[in-house]
Amino acid sequence: MDSVDDRWYKDAVLYELSVRTFADGNGDGIGDFRGLTQRLDYLEGLGVTAIWLLPFQPSPWRDDGYDVTDHYGVHPDFGDIGDFVRFVEHARDRGLRVIIDLVLNHTSREHRWFQAARRGDPRFHDYYVWADTKPPDAERGVVFPGVQKTTWTYDRAARRYYFHRFYDFQPDLNIASPAVRDEMEKIIGFWLNLGISGFRVDAVPFLVEPTSATNTSPGPNLDWLGTFRSYLSWRSGDAVLLGEANVPREQIPDYFGRGGLHMMFDFEVNQRLWLALARQEAAPLVEALRDTSGIPGADQWAMFLRNNDELDLGRLSDDERRTVFRRFAPSKRMQLYDRGIRRRLAPMLGGDRALQELAFALLLALPGTPVLFYGDEIGMGDDLALPERLAVRTPMQWSEAPNAGFSAAPRSQLAQPVISRGAFAYRDVNVAAEQREDDALLLFVQRAIRTRRRLRELKGTWEPLRVREPSVLALRYELDASPLVTLHNLGSTAVHVHGVRAQGLVDVFANRAYQPPRRAVELDAYGFRWLRDPAAA
Ligand code: NOJ
Ligand code: CA
Repeated sequence: MDSVDDRWYKDAVLYELSVRTFADGNGDGIGDFRGLTQRLDYLEGLGVTAIWLLPFQPSPWRDDGYDVTDHYGVHPDFGDIGDFVRFVEHARDRGLRVIIDLVLNHTSREHRWFQAARRGDPRFHDYYVWADTKPPDAERGVVFPGVQKTTWTYDRAARRYYFHRFYDFQPDLNIASPAVRDEMEKIIGFWLNLGISGFRVDAVPFLVEPTSATNTSPGPNLDWLGTFRSYLSWRSGDAVLLGEANVPREQIPDYFGRGGLHMMFDFEVNQRLWLALARQEAAPLVEALRDTSGIPGADQWAMFLRNNDELDLGRLSDDERRTVFRRFAPSKRMQLYDRGIRRRLAPMLGGDRALQELAFALLLALPGTPVLFYGDEIGMGDDLALPERLAVRTPMQWSEAPNAGFSAAPRSQLAQPVISRGAFAYRDVNVAAEQREDDALLLFVQRAIRTRRRLRELKGTWEPLRVREPSVLALRYELDASPLVTLHNLGSTAVHVHGVRAQGLVDVFANRAYQPPRRAVELDAYGFRWLRDPAAA
């Protein structure tokens, strides 16, 4: 019998949410830990096994909380540290783990460390990255082109320039400073002690890039990241680091290896999945899966369709990116930073139900840990009137009640406007309605998640199968000699798939009831089938 890997993150299903826009428990218009705790039943019912919380620490909230002013606290709008701990306890009671965003690349400009640093306090000056004159490459490497002009900004009090990879209100911390490294260890120790299971580490490549004059090592500081990981594992044996590291393929082994990340988001697969959907051809996705497959046993990819940011297509060629734009974001206002799409899943797929089902089935059948973005499971839309990435961060739509049941406050007080017009308005798209309807998208996603969770073959080995039909992605998993074949048709015409040995296998999950597979396997337009050995059931 093959030994099954029982590391929890290997068969987790993650759900990404922002406390601020999920559920308002005290009626002030802003989501909070009390509201979120009350909605744990929903998440348990959905079948996800872990929650990833976007930043919730004190912050002036100029980059949706990614501009932290105190790494040891909870923003007062969301409750206090006791409410956080209660939430974690209640989540654990339901078997749900919690991981939180860890933003260490930079702080808010208003952080007391930066305020002390700019006033010349010798204890804090080296916490950040400074230069006496503006470096010549200051206009290169901005992360938000079109919005951000430079990576070096003059500070009048310090009379020096400080480095910021992101917006000018997010000065980069200097990880070459031993005091900063010590702070970082203190921060992870603090949160681990409150019962969480790990961190989604923000902006890893920038966190480890050598930026300071005091840091002379040529490449990324991955050895430091490895030490950081050892510290984490010493404090808590089953805690994970899930890295946000959109790096070129050749660097990936080092981020897992020397850097010690347990998981990384698979940006390569994400972009090529969208290219595959745009072209109705599985080849780009198969290539990406092959390219990223060579990672050792304990390491794991995190797969996703959409998240809280723009869909970054920066790794595609100009032509490929144009193809994806044409199909999924044809107007300029749907695009962002010359490289991405600021739309949610459902509108990108034109609200088409078959396509949405295909996308979820595909996500849940890929070799990696799936990560869902809140609201996509009910087919929520976006609000392009909101700036930049806020378009996809509107409040969760719970019911037909005012403010989508998100909050009892007057509409004008809401943290973000709810979507109340158009095809994705909350009166039509909401949890309560979908829980009443037998054929709702929500129930489909629930079933897909629960099916995935009981298929142990997905923990086995896998390989893409060669099939003659270009629109079909065929994967074969195997564990203890028991196979699982998953077929997904990315094309808008029905096909018969040749070349898969599926006779004798039975459907465990499919877009509809099919005849048992013969020499060829039938698939509808955008259809899918997961086929298994009947003896394994
Ligand atoms: C990546 C986060 O996902 C994004 O939302 C944020 O703006 C940047 N990192 C800066 O923290
Ligand atoms: Ca509130």
